[in-house]
Amino acid sequence: MDKNKKKGRYERIYKQLEELVGKSDNPISCMATVVAVLHHKMEYFFWTGFYLMQDGRLLVGPYQGPVACQELAKNKGVCWSGINKKETVIVADVHQFPDHIACDSRSKSEIVVPLRNRKDEIIGVLDVDSKDLASFDEIDAEWLEKIIKLI
Ligand code: SME
Repeated sequence: MDKNKKKGRYERIYKQLEELVGKSDNPISCMATVVAVLHHKMEYFFWTGFYLMQDGRLLVGPYQGPVACQELAKNKGVCWSGINKKETVIVADVHQFPDHIACDSRSKSEIVVPLRNRKDEIIGVLDVDSKDLASFDEIDAEWLEKIIKLI
């Protein structure tokens, strides 16, 4: 997607989510709302969802898209890499990423953004997959980081 179009789209989504998420104090409801809006407004988002930490495991949370792995093998793949590095990870070609976990073979590129609680501890990740190579860039990183702070 053209960079200006992408920025404009994220600006509108952010405003909409600010209002919607502001109405709920339940994190799971907020996550469900965030993934529903993102998934349906960004046409290159093929799988959009959260993986959440629970007792040292990374388990699937609210998502939209094809059925995904329920639990991700520890310290493997892009989601665990985001957790361990404590920063956003952008992968232009998932088939070149060591240990990538393919929940759906159609996914080609991916972005993972760590989700933090109020104490700044990492409690999970937002994960988005695309069917095209190199779909995600610094604009996605900036806006997705901003959007998940609303939760
Ligand atoms: N590809 C991810 C697993 C989750 S699916 O993309 C929905 C990973 O390597 O961690």
